[in-house]
Amino acid sequence: MAYSIEQDVDQILLSEQQIAQRVAELGAQITADYADRPLMLVGILKGAGIFHADLARAIKGRVQLDFMVASSYGSGAVSSGTLHIIKDLEGDVAGKDILLVEDIVDTGLTLSELQQYLLGRGAASVKICALLNKPARRKVDVTIDYLGYTVPDEFIIGYGIDYAESYRNLPYIASLKREIYER
Ligand code: IMP
Ligand code: MG
Repeated sequence: MAYSIEQDVDQILLSEQQIAQRVAELGAQITADYADRPLMLVGILKGAGIFHADLARAIKGRVQLDFMVASSYGSGAVSSGTLHIIKDLEGDVAGKDILLVEDIVDTGLTLSELQQYLLGRGAASVKICALLNKPARRKVDVTIDYLGYTVPDEFIIGYGIDYAESYRNLPYIASLKREIYER
C-alpha cells in the first residue's frame, strides 16, 4: 500500500470538526470585539497559514490580511531581543489594530518579541490569537487574548503545523509518533 502521512500519527488530539467549531467561536468573539474598528489580521507563516485562512472567513467585520515570517533565537528566561524578521508587513503599521495569528505558543519568545516590535513601530494595539497553547515549555509571559485549545507537551503536527516541513496537510491536529522524531 502507498505511504500515507497518517501512519506517523500517534494520537488525534483535535478532530476537523472540533477545530472548525472552535474557529467559528473565535471568529464570532473577534467580530464582536472589533465591531467598531478595522482589523489587521496577521498570520505568522508558515504554521498559522491554514488557521489564518479559516479564521479570516469566520470574522464578519472589516479585515485586512497580511503575513509575517519570523524566528526567535532567544534561549534565556527573558525575551532576548533576537527576533529575526524574514518577511515583514507590507503596509504602514502606525495606528493599526493588529491581531497576530499563531499556530502554537511554546516558549512564547516569538510572539512576545513580535508584539514588542510592532508596538515599537506605532501599532495602536497588538493582540494575540493562538490556535494552540503548550504552557509546559513557556519561558516568557505572553497574554493569549484568543485561544483555541491547550495541548500537552508532545510534538504536535497537522492543520498547518509541521515536523521537518511535513504533515502540514493533515486536516486535524495530532501528536507525532516518537519513533519519527527520535530516530
Ligand atoms: P515559541 O513560542 O517562540 O517557542 O515558538 C513557537 C513556534 O515553535 C510555533 O509557532 C511553531 O512553529 C513551533 N512549535 C512549537 N511547538 C511545536 C510542536 O509541537 N510542533 C511543531 N512546531 C512547534
Ligand atoms: Mg510558527
